[in-house]
Amino acid sequence: MSFNVAIDGPAGAGKSTIAKALAKELQFVYVDTGAMYRALAYFFLSRKADISNEEEIGEFVKEATVEIAYEDGKQQVLLNGENVTSHLREEEVGNAASRTSAYPAVRAHLLKLQQDLAATQDVIMDGRDIGTCVLPKAQLKIFLTASVETRAKRRYDELLAKGEQADLSEIAAGIQERDERDMNREIAPLKQAEDAVLVDSSYMSIDEVVNTIRNLVMERRA
Ligand code: DC
Repeated sequence: MSFNVAIDGPAGAGKSTIAKALAKELQFVYVDTGAMYRALAYFFLSRKADISNEEEIGEFVKEATVEIAYEDGKQQVLLNGENVTSHLREEEVGNAASRTSAYPAVRAHLLKLQQDLAATQDVIMDGRDIGTCVLPKAQLKIFLTASVETRAKRRYDELLAKGEQADLSEIAAGIQERDERDMNREIAPLKQAEDAVLVDSSYMSIDEVVNTIRNLVMERRA
């Protein structure tokens, strides 16, 4: 039987950095479900759909096929057969993903793909509802969080390192807005599963978080 690790938490908590490092160390497959929601959002934006119109999005989503492939161990997202991975980290796509992921038709479209990936292989899957909805039987569930200030500062440093302009208070406001939306939507809101282990990374290094979770995996696999 496959071993599944679910990592949920708000934007900027470090889920993907931690999950990638852990997957490499443990030789698990890393599944980034946010990228799947981003791929659908990219599809809606490129088709000029009205993302505030749930009915319209419900129709558009039927025309989108999302698939996952791996190149040198890195997840690639194929949208209707085309690799769209390089477009997915844009701010506009993230915001549209946060809005459209609240629609049941959009979530239903990705659920089976996510569950199928975890059924046959050892995965570390990150997202917002992995422990609560997608993989309720995951052997280990982590709720990874950090304060808004810490998450905003991380994002700010990331943008500066890329040579982009950034405003710390604007980033913090955006993160707070995204949190509100992800936590307060009706379907599959971001919340800690009852049996998840809470890890607050505000004052932890990446290595400390990776070690903490790795030890938990070892304990549960023993
Ligand atoms: O983790 P991320 O920033 O790439 O996710 C983009 C958006 O997708 C996020 O605002 C919420 C949504 N999402 C979701 O609703 N459920 C998931 N399992 C993963 C992401």
